[in-house]
Amino acid sequence: MSKLFSHENPTIEAFGLRVAAEFADDSSGHDWWHVWRVWRLARRLALEEGARLQIVELAALGHDVEDHKLGRPPGTLVTWLREAGVDTKTITEVENICRRVSFKGAGVADEMPSLEGQVVQDADRLDAIGAIGVARAFAYGGAHGRELYDPAEKPELHESFESYKKSGSSSLMHFYEKLFLLSDRMHTPSASRLARQRHAFMEAFVARFLAEWEGEA
Ligand code: ADP
Ligand code: NI
Repeated sequence: MSKLFSHENPTIEAFGLRVAAEFADDSSGHDWWHVWRVWRLARRLALEEGARLQIVELAALGHDVEDHKLGRPPGTLVTWLREAGVDTKTITEVENICRRVSFKGAGVADEMPSLEGQVVQDADRLDAIGAIGVARAFAYGGAHGRELYDPAEKPELHESFESYKKSGSSSLMHFYEKLFLLSDRMHTPSASRLARQRHAFMEAFVARFLAEWEGEA
């Protein structure tokens, strides 16, 4: 197999390869290619927004390492960063960003003070919308035994992380619970521009899905 990740900076390359190896057999929607896309997008946004590249790239690569759904013990991210040769000050900054990235429900506010963190969160959210977002939502739904759609269901906007985590709704409901909310929650102008196009694509997709469901299209 060819090398999954290469980078001109040896520290970033070592960390990226570690993440790639550890994420290789993940089927929870946090696979290596998700991380890779977030890294690519975050790098682009960082260049457009003038954010510090090294912090952004490491945080993008590390953003899902300690995701609550994956069950890795606390400290895993710091260990991997240290073993790749990242310095202590950078590790602290990267860790602070990664801890805040995940979406916790419609009514739970985002707290992301640094531009570098905002860029990474924007990139992660862009990968949840648009054509890739549609594919990921149904892949996740299938992996968790969820229905495509249930006409009896009403969308629910979760006010707490607990109720959001417990939601067992259909994949189509996930568009209303989360995916349609993301384009308004972008931090940076560069991400907002991309989000608007991805959002419009999802709206067209859902409108067509519902029309086909009723046999109208
Ligand atoms: P993050 O932690 O990055 O905020 P998640 O881990 O919640 O995102 O989701 C990973 C992927 O799975 C995303 O593309 C997301 O939209 C999708 N997903 C999460 N929950 C559901 C769900 N209930 N139904 C369909 N897709 C989902
Ligand atoms: Ni992610």
